[in-house]
Amino acid sequence: MKLKRTHYCGDLRLSNLDEEVVLMGWVQKKRNLGGLVFVDLRDRSGICQIIFDTEVSEEAFKTAEKLGSEYVLAVCGKVRERESKNPNLETGDIEIIASKITIFNKSETPPIYIKDDDNVSEELRLKYRYLDLRKPSMQKTLMLRSKVANIVRNYLNENGFCEIETPFLIKPTPEGARDYLVPSRVNEGKFYALPQSPQIFKQLLMVSGMDRYFQIVKCFRDEDLRADRQPEFTQIDCEMSFVDEQDVMSIMEKMIQKVFKEILNVDVTLPLPVMSYKEAMERFGSDKPDTRFGYELTDISDLVKECGFSVFKNATTSGMSVRGINVSGKSEEISKKQLSKIEDVAKTYKAKGLAWMRIGANNEITSPIAKFFTEQELKNILDRMNAKEGDLLLFVADKNSIVFDALGQVRLEVARRLNLLNNKEYKMLWVTEFPLFEEDEETGRMIAKHHPFTSPLDEDIDKLDGEDKINLRAKAYDIVINGYEVGGGSIRIFNSDVQQKMFKALGFTEEEANEKFGFLLDAFKYGTPPHGGIAFGLDRLVMILAGTNNIKDVIAFPKNQSAVCPMTNAPAVAEKSQLDELSIKVNIEN
Ligand code: AMO
Ligand code: AMP
Repeated sequence: MKLKRTHYCGDLRLSNLDEEVVLMGWVQKKRNLGGLVFVDLRDRSGICQIIFDTEVSEEAFKTAEKLGSEYVLAVCGKVRERESKNPNLETGDIEIIASKITIFNKSETPPIYIKDDDNVSEELRLKYRYLDLRKPSMQKTLMLRSKVANIVRNYLNENGFCEIETPFLIKPTPEGARDYLVPSRVNEGKFYALPQSPQIFKQLLMVSGMDRYFQIVKCFRDEDLRADRQPEFTQIDCEMSFVDEQDVMSIMEKMIQKVFKEILNVDVTLPLPVMSYKEAMERFGSDKPDTRFGYELTDISDLVKECGFSVFKNATTSGMSVRGINVSGKSEEISKKQLSKIEDVAKTYKAKGLAWMRIGANNEITSPIAKFFTEQELKNILDRMNAKEGDLLLFVADKNSIVFDALGQVRLEVARRLNLLNNKEYKMLWVTEFPLFEEDEETGRMIAKHHPFTSPLDEDIDKLDGEDKINLRAKAYDIVINGYEVGGGSIRIFNSDVQQKMFKALGFTEEEANEKFGFLLDAFKYGTPPHGGIAFGLDRLVMILAGTNNIKDVIAFPKNQSAVCPMTNAPAVAEKSQLDELSIKVNIEN
């Protein structure tokens, strides 16, 4: 019997009453109640209850009795109203009384449950990802991702962006992570790199006069993985000619506004707030501030210069700083034990400790360090931090970078513990005026904070060959949503002299710069338009829209924390013959 599907399981309603339908899908559940077999049939759209009744079709009933979980079927039957309705199911008002059934395939007992609250380890889920992806939540997320990509593509098309593919086998791009290398068989001993982003190619497309480019594209970075990082991830990559920062930010925030409206029906007010890097660091201890809650940082260095607590005093006299946050009104909600866990977070980010003060009635202070301060000093600190009864003050003394990092993370940890991170609320902003350079922690060398093609602010261009590089600022911008860096970009250097100066500032000799990026420097000699762009992390954007903190939830086949695919077991040992062909010798025993 050849049946043709008429509906999806999740689509049927009372309005379909008495219709003869054909559904196809998987057995979610089967119950046998004597003369009746109940089957929950599942497909991408949802679940529908099917009833097999001996009185309607003895043959179909007999087949249904033999069904097991995850069998794949076609069922033909009539829609009728349910006696006991199920308000938890979209199709809960109806059921299908089956007249025919075809089993397309049986299934072995699946190693993981096909339901959302399954409590199965992530490793097992990834090993059987094709089953994991049968879960309604996973299917919903993948469909959401597809919808986001479509909205973005349509928006960019409507705004004159041309979709152009760029190569995957390239010379390294300098985004700052390690490259994945691909050996060339034809060019023995030579390697391609997989792109960390299409950065250089999109700039070359501007030189070509393409004016507006975009691509939804895979990027590859061999870096330590985190909850919001994968070795291969997807960017919505854009570049525009004849634009300044405002132009890029304005057109891109409208795209984000459209995505949030169409996906979540959330209205985003534009223009988004803009905050300088410096302000973000000083207020939130982070260049991707989560502005859904307060607990901002306060500098108290000047108030503790002469105090008796040597940790604070020494910090201020050696040019470091002492800053604190006021966990306003929540002192009682954070126990001693929790405080010690929060201190551990500070220590993970290299702070030597986390000093605290609890404020009681009449500004009575409970704190192991209160005894080291005069009354006036304590009063000054409390005044500066707007402290009142019920508040908890947390302090870190160290060099600025550690204070910001540690307190920024403490701030987030406290918010997590107090359940302040509502993932139905969306706080977005642009962070701008990033430093052009930063110091590489290992080597102490100047490296580009964004990438070496980012333009300095106009007023800073002349200082490129000066001493004060660390204070130069860039025409760079990041878009931050709920504490995630969702996108980042910049206005580029479009002049080969400035670009050359930039390479020099980064410590490249002329030969090195030419060897690595000569083609770009050459291109810049032939009439390069002013240009700039941005790339969004599509995975991160979808994470936020789907309300998850785990990037793996929004990628069909992600890698685990060790960059391994537990399903296919990639990466794997290569065949000796393949290695020989590539003239590669592996130095370790596998
Ligand atoms: P950047 O390196 O800031 O800029 O990357 C842009 C955006 O990509 C996302 N992202 C990642 N997502 C998941 N896993 C990763 N490992 C990962 N790395 C980055 C982030 C980030 O904001 N070429 C420049 C863009 C430009 O200047 O136009 C670039 O790649 O959301
Ligand atoms: P100690 O004098 O080392 O016992 O520290 C007293 C308190 O100060 C403890 O609560 C420590 O966590 C805290 N502390 C120590 N070093 C620092 C620091 N660099 N910044 C902030 N608090 C600190």
